[in-house]
Amino acid sequence: MRTDMEKEYLVNAIDAFKRSIIIISTDFKILAANHTESPNEAQVKVGDLCYQALYSRSTPCTNCLALEVIKTRKAALRPGREGIMALEKVSCLYSYPIFSGEEIHSLVIMDFAMSTLERMEERIHRSNGFLSNLIKSAVDGIIAADMTGKILIFNDAACEISGYDVDEVINIMSIREIYPGDGARNVMRMLRCNEYGDKGTLRSYRVDIKRKTGEIIPISLNAAIVYDGESEVATLGFFHDLRDTLKIEAELEKTQVQLLQAEKMSSLGKLAAGVAHQLNNPLGGITLFSQLIMEDYELPEGARKDLERILHDAQRCSNIVKELLEFSRQTSNEMRPQDINHALSQTLFLLENQTIFHDIVIEKDFNPSLPLVPIDKQQINHVFMNIILNAADAMEGRGTLSLSTSFLPEKNRVCIKISDTGPGIPENILPKIFDPFFTTKEQGKGTGLGLSLVYGIIEDHGGHIRAESTVGIGTKFIIELLLDPPSGGGTKSG
Ligand SMILES: Nc1ncnc2c1ncn2[C@@H]1O[C@H](COP(=O)(O)OP(=O)(O)OP(=O)(O)O)[C@@H](O)[C@H]1O
Ligand SMILES: [Mg+2]
Repeated sequence: MRTDMEKEYLVNAIDAFKRSIIIISTDFKILAANHTESPNEAQVKVGDLCYQALYSRSTPCTNCLALEVIKTRKAALRPGREGIMALEKVSCLYSYPIFSGEEIHSLVIMDFAMSTLERMEERIHRSNGFLSNLIKSAVDGIIAADMTGKILIFNDAACEISGYDVDEVINIMSIREIYPGDGARNVMRMLRCNEYGDKGTLRSYRVDIKRKTGEIIPISLNAAIVYDGESEVATLGFFHDLRDTLKIEAELEKTQVQLLQAEKMSSLGKLAAGVAHQLNNPLGGITLFSQLIMEDYELPEGARKDLERILHDAQRCSNIVKELLEFSRQTSNEMRPQDINHALSQTLFLLENQTIFHDIVIEKDFNPSLPLVPIDKQQINHVFMNIILNAADAMEGRGTLSLSTSFLPEKNRVCIKISDTGPGIPENILPKIFDPFFTTKEQGKGTGLGLSLVYGIIEDHGGHIRAESTVGIGTKFIIELLLDPPSGGGTKSG
């Protein structure tokens, strides 16, 4: 129990407090008020109804703080501009219940200056606005979720990458729906261990997310767990779409492979040209002296046959030398718009009467309105010739050779397909067929230069060539030629 003296001190202390304090009953009757130096002090009389005495109202205030305290049985705070007795121009009301056992016996209401609070609130408001603008307009996608997975922050970039609308996500979706499969759980597991950066962080991690359309796309994710002391309270992730980067990387890789191939071809070409030139003279000598012996001497039949063999093989050697020189030729200068259908027909005309084509059915599907393509016709004929001869060899003189031409307007290219019903090319061999000197033909039958020559010519035309093959079904060569090739050669692919 307090002594009278103690009570007096307390009352004096409350009176000396420069804020209004009143105590009201649960039916709004003023039970006590402190004596501030308010000019309105006289208006507050014990027994009066607070809304009448303080605000001259006939009914309780609509936003009555006391009612809130009665309802919640807890202290409540309400910033406002209308303090009790208008002591402060800008004030804040604070109220708390006084219990008698389980019952609320009375309520304390006090007001205090708002200026500091308001300034703080204003500052918080401004920095909140700045932060939310920052998050909203960030180039990276930003996503934050509570520890149940509920998404709390999802900025514009995240919406753009994922295809979701912000209203469909915040407080509605779980982070688990953003990552396909066990993605979200894996990210959490990595965040919680030390193997992928400091505990609680994950840097530049490549992971997939599922767009609203169901499409799976790769992203690069920087993520962190937000801690409150020791406990995890949220996760925060910054991410960006990796599709463009991966596309560029793949293209770079392809270009690198093509560059390597080009380099390989060009050095082999130079080597071949050198060897070919050096072989030309001795080959000429062999041919010339063999012919002289045949003309100048009476030879037994066996020796004549042997010499004929020497001459025949020398002729083969000089053909190979010619191929080698062709293989190492410089870029053609005779580019003229030509009818590809006509060029193909010309090549076929030369070949189809040869014995090897007698049992080969030739099917043509030429687009009659093919645009003219700028090509070196002689070289392109050489391309068709090599591919068709290979096909005839592969089919061993029996099967179907199909030739088709088409126009690809979206690529501004003309496409030529040459396919056969031969044995096909095994998967492990397919990547090598354009390599110089690669052949599966028995010794003396193939040089392995045919397709590398083809490759080089198509490259010089700025076109593309590739082969598709299924063992047991056949092989298809697909050539694309540009309608507006870049001057001085172009790209190639194998
Ligand atoms: N249509 C095809 N069907 C099956 N294999 C093929 C076909 N075209 C090419 N090949 C394979 O590719 C290899 C290389 O062909 P390429 O034309 O470069 O050389 P080659 O035909 O062996 O010799 P050559 O220099 O006399 O042309 C062939 O040996 C063969 O194994
Ligand atoms: Mg060949």
